[in-house]
Amino acid sequence: MIVIKDISAFESMRITGQLLAQLFVELERSVVPGVTTLDIDAHIDRYLSAHGLVSQSKGYMGYKHASCISLNDVVVHGVPSSSQKLVVGDMVTIDVCAQFRGYCADMARCFFVGEVSSEAKKLVEVTQCSLDAGIAQAVPGARISDISAAIQKVVESAGFGVVRDFAGHGIGRKMHEAPEILNYGKPGRGPVIREGMAFALEPMVTFGKYDVYVERDGWTARTVDKSLAAHIEDTVIVTAHGPQVITRL
Ligand code: MF3
Ligand code: CO
Repeated sequence: MIVIKDISAFESMRITGQLLAQLFVELERSVVPGVTTLDIDAHIDRYLSAHGLVSQSKGYMGYKHASCISLNDVVVHGVPSSSQKLVVGDMVTIDVCAQFRGYCADMARCFFVGEVSSEAKKLVEVTQCSLDAGIAQAVPGARISDISAAIQKVVESAGFGVVRDFAGHGIGRKMHEAPEILNYGKPGRGPVIREGMAFALEPMVTFGKYDVYVERDGWTARTVDKSLAAHIEDTVIVTAHGPQVITRL
């Protein structure tokens, strides 16, 4: 069942989204050579506590951190570690989901450590375009897979891969709600999008093949061919006037 949110739920979600967006502005300055991914997670954890935000990843299926931090060929769910130091050329995806006043927002951004390859830049650019194309489809009356198809088209037109093993999702009081929103598929399928719905849209895009595997830690998802992967996520609410991205300032 897809939960329809009222104005006050949307208002809470907006506040959560804006607090997360401000966190990500701060993170720009902490994604630098020599910093460990655990240092970054500690920064995130402190920010969440200081603002009364409740991490949705900490405690989720035994996960222990306030963020997922995924480097280079890691697609999603990289686990922050004190032995993982950022070096120039790294591409870093930071993913944070938190709740405030009982409502969640979920957000991920790609950061570059110093100068990165032109391939990495292109990959992130295309991932961003695919997300924006997906968001544009989140209008009342459209169908869920219209979002999926729009994302896939942008990614594949650029010659990149769309990861199949993870998807976007509904969001509200809980981090993961119905519906599941694949990043690929034919348009015109799935539930009709209505005012009051909220989605976390999150294309995961690979430079090479889209196949991924999960490491023995049970979390870290990497590309099989070791190619670079990008992941960008925004939380979007559907209003009568169309989609509104609540995780952008
Ligand atoms: N933010 C992720 C998502 O988009 C979920 C975090 S996975 C967790 O679904 F295990 F860390 F919680
Ligand atoms: Co998500």
